[in-house]
This record gives sequence, structure tokens and C-alpha cells, in this order.
Amino acid sequence: MADNRVTFGSKLGILLATVGCAVGLGSIWRFPYMLGTNGGAAFLLVYILFMIFLGIPVMVTEFFIGRYSRSNTVGSFKKLAPGTKWCWIGYNGILAAFLILSYYAVISGWTLEYVWQTLSGNLYASPDVDYGIHFEAFASDVFRPIFWTAFFIGLTHFVVVSGVDKGIERASKIMMPLLFLILIVMCVRSVTLPNSEAGLTYLFKPDFSKLTSSVVLSALGQAFFSLSLGMGCLITYSSYFGKETNMHKTAWEVTIINTVVALLAGIMIFPAVFSFGIAPSAGAELVFITLPNVFEQLPFSNLWSLVFYILLAMAALTSTISLHEVSTAYVLEEFHTTRKKAAWIVSIGVFILGVFSSLSFGLMKEVTINGLTFFEALDYLTAKIMLPLGGMLTCIFVGTRIDKKILKQELTNNGTIRFRLFSIYVFFMKFVAPIAIGIVFLNELGLLRELMKLF
Ligand code: PFF
Repeated sequence: MADNRVTFGSKLGILLATVGCAVGLGSIWRFPYMLGTNGGAAFLLVYILFMIFLGIPVMVTEFFIGRYSRSNTVGSFKKLAPGTKWCWIGYNGILAAFLILSYYAVISGWTLEYVWQTLSGNLYASPDVDYGIHFEAFASDVFRPIFWTAFFIGLTHFVVVSGVDKGIERASKIMMPLLFLILIVMCVRSVTLPNSEAGLTYLFKPDFSKLTSSVVLSALGQAFFSLSLGMGCLITYSSYFGKETNMHKTAWEVTIINTVVALLAGIMIFPAVFSFGIAPSAGAELVFITLPNVFEQLPFSNLWSLVFYILLAMAALTSTISLHEVSTAYVLEEFHTTRKKAAWIVSIGVFILGVFSSLSFGLMKEVTINGLTFFEALDYLTAKIMLPLGGMLTCIFVGTRIDKKILKQELTNNGTIRFRLFSIYVFFMKFVAPIAIGIVFLNELGLLRELMKLF
């Protein structure tokens, strides 16, 4: 199924664009927040297992669909299985992208507030600031967080409409390694703080009594969220891959980079959390109340803090662009409008939802759905249900609808590269991934226990 679709320029370009889409707030903000609310090291272990045994096979499968069909999320399913309902996997993905963007933009907005506060000298103005209270004051304000959310959506909108993403891609070639470097500096500072061992123990010494069904589901959701899986984002990206791209190798590389960034984020956060007496289960604000404490311990704290939050905002931007693009491309093609109009529809819709997510940290804190705030409910619905479900159905789709010969041909670039683990990959994609994800779902719903009772 070849045509003359444009492709990414170079091998490095492919890797960087895909890493840019995957690495973002998911590893640096969401991973520590999830680990902290799910009891620590046991979560980490399950998360890593899911990344390797489910993440990589699902990613290879999405790459296959994208490059083989050379079209977008919905289009690819329509092309590979015309006239069937399989394209609903694509719709699920588009909706997930839209919903994720709405709350992701809120957190991205927080990074801008911290850039601003560092610049204006407010953040480190006095030595005895309680950064928890400081954050609370900001988040419970009605307008400030909403302003930054709007600002971030505006930034994303601008890039999506004007197509300067190539420039951003180029810039991220410098910024990603820089972010890496700062993470390492922060890790060193964090592990040399007093009482930091407690944090490392919390991060690396599993307590299996903490391993509940909800922890396992959270780890699954985190693996999918941080690898941008289950929503067709990588299908769209891989539709631009060249004929010679080694897709299984790219999947390994992206997963390894992503996991290393998450681990660094963990090593940066948890020793500091224990050293400063912050509750690991503080929730979504964990990173924002922990890091200023560490920056304060560094010489030139303002400078480190400024560079870090700018880089974090950039890492978030490369992800919001991909999320926005998924929805915009859909509106554009489905409703036959201009790119500009489609982007406006998405931006306004996302902003309206974003307002509610933002308010759920302050004014609407008490408004809950099944015990979850609006923000938490959206995060639960997308990361823990829609993405794994999308990934599971994608695997079932390829496992049942695609001839294995075609699959092998595509994944070995017509036999020009080796894929030694091909049979193992097929086994994982066809059986292990769908069954494991299914079991995690049933387990969380308590249905597994009921089923066991029957036997
Ligand atoms: N993987 C991104 C992150 O970890 O920040 C978030 C994300 C981006 C999820 C794009 C899904 C997506 F399609």
C-alpha cells in the first residue's frame, strides 16, 4: 500500500518526533504522582513489566498499521477493514486525545506559572516558604490557572495552525538532551539530601502487600499514557515513516528512553519528598510542591528552576501538539472544513473542558463523580479505560484481520532487516496483550473474583 505521502527526513528525525510525542508530562509529572498514590515500588515493577511486555508489542502493532495503511487513525482502519466497525477504535482514540488534551493543558499551564514565578522572583523570595501552601494558593485561584491553560492551548493552536512544528522538532533536538541533563543534576541533588534513602527505598523496594487491582490498573494506564498508546497517535506518526524505518527497533528505543526519563523523575522526586516531609500521595501537585524545595538547595536556584520549567513546558508542548493534531485532523477531514476552523473548534472545546479540570483543584474540589474530582475522573476514563481498551482492540484487529505474511513483510521491510523476535511478538500481540489487558479490567471491576467463585 504505497503512495507518495511525505515522510520524516531522517532516522534521528523519526526517533525524535516519536520520542517528542511520547516523552512529556507523563513521565515527569504523572509517573511520580501515580507512583506516590499507588504505594511505591510495587507499582514501578508492574509498570516496567507492562512497558516491556505490553507497551512494545502494542507500539509495534500501531507502527505497522500506520505505515502499512499510510493514513490517519480512523482512515487506517477504514482502509484495512473497509465497511466494518473496526474504525471505532479510531474514534475511541480521537475522543481520548481530545479529553486528555483538556486536562493535560491545565498541568502544562502550571509549568508556565512556575516559569513566570521564577522569572518574577516570587518563587524563591523568602527562605521559609511552604511550597505546598504556595501551590494551593495558586491552584485554588479561579483565574490564574485558567489563564495559563488558555495560554498553553493558544500556543498549541498556533503551532498546529501555522505548521511550525518542524521548527519545534529541530529545537527539541537540543532541548531534550538538555532536559535529560537537568534531570540528572536534580537526581544527584535529591539523593544527597538528608534522609533521602527513605525515598529510594520507597521507589525501589517493592512491598507486594500494596499490590491491589487498582494499583495494577494504574500501572497499565501509566504505561499506555506515557507511551502515547491506544489512541492512534503513533498510527498517525508512523504513517510518515519511511520504507527503511526499523519499526521494532524504534519501539524499543522510544520505550527505553521513556522509561529512563520516568526513572530519573522518580529518583529526582522521591528522595526529596521524604527529605522534606511531603506526603508521597499528595496527588497531581506532587512534582510542583517537591521540586522548588530541591531547586532551593542548588546554587543559582532561579536559573536551574527557570531552565527546568521552560524545558518541561517544551516537552509538554511536543505532546499537546500531537494530541491537538489527532483531533484537528479528524475534524478537518470529517467535516470538510479548513485547517484553521478545525483547529479553532478543537481549541475552544478543549478549553471549555479544561476550565472544569482547572476548577476541580479549587472551587470545584468538592464536586465529585464516584469520589473523583472532574480532573481525576477524566484522567481515569482516558488513561485507565480508553487507552488500554484501544490498545487491546488494536491487537485483536491485527491478530485476526491481518495476514501474518503481510505483517512479517512490513515489519522486516520486505525481508531486508531481521526481526528475530517476530514469532514472540506475534504471540504477545495476539494473545498476551489482549488477555492481560482484559484480565486487568475484569479484576478492577471485581468481576474476576465473581467469575472465580463460579469454578
Ligand atoms: N505520552 C505523553 C506524555 O507522557 O506526556 C502524553 C500523550 C501524548 C498521551 C500524546 C497520548 C498522546 F497521544
